[in-house]
Amino acid sequence: MVLITLEGIDGSGKSTLNASLQHALLDLAPVFTREPGATWIGEQVRRAIADEVDPVTEALLFAADHAAHLDSVIRPALAAGKHVISDRYADSRYAYQWATLEGVLPDPLTWLRQVHDGWTVPPDHTLLLVLPVEVALSRKKLAGKREHFEEASLLARVQENYLRLAGEEPSRFVVVDAEMEEGELASFSERLIREWCGSSRSHRRR
Ligand code: TMP
Repeated sequence: MVLITLEGIDGSGKSTLNASLQHALLDLAPVFTREPGATWIGEQVRRAIADEVDPVTEALLFAADHAAHLDSVIRPALAAGKHVISDRYADSRYAYQWATLEGVLPDPLTWLRQVHDGWTVPPDHTLLLVLPVEVALSRKKLAGKREHFEEASLLARVQENYLRLAGEEPSRFVVVDAEMEEGELASFSERLIREWCGSSRSHRRR
């Protein structure tokens, strides 16, 4: 079983890609899931984001959702021998909350990693969608609703953080050009995921 995560800034096309993959990978029957929102705690987190709580509260809420998500979806699916594809995962915290906690905590990334240490399940592979922030924002504008994360300077820092994380773990991350044509992006991602699922590991750290 393989744990694959999809990451990228708002407007990177993750949701569209996810929808295409759900259709294309029917034969593999992976468990598709997401953060926040796969649990009732995730729903509360979405409410908190909309209300703009303070950044430490927000980070801990996202982490709480991750714990519940691991307990109710990720671990059971992996234990049942299923592949899992999660739209956002711990790297969303490391990238977004690293940015929102800058100036609030002395070393946000170290703190965020410590918060997850010992109980999270590290992903096997991560697809990181990357694109110019203006393009991402124009897509969100077309889609209507905007959350407080969807601001150019913040998203630029978040994307920079993602790229730093990818640079630290080049064997886990595949950085993908999210400006690729939609169908092309979907088939490229599908090929990669099929490759990863074909070489699944039976031993993983839990
Ligand atoms: P979504 O738009 O992919 O559903 O995610 C909701 C927002 O929450 C998005 O702006 C990214 C943000 N987010 C974080 O800031 N930290 C996290 O840990 C997660 C999972 C999401």
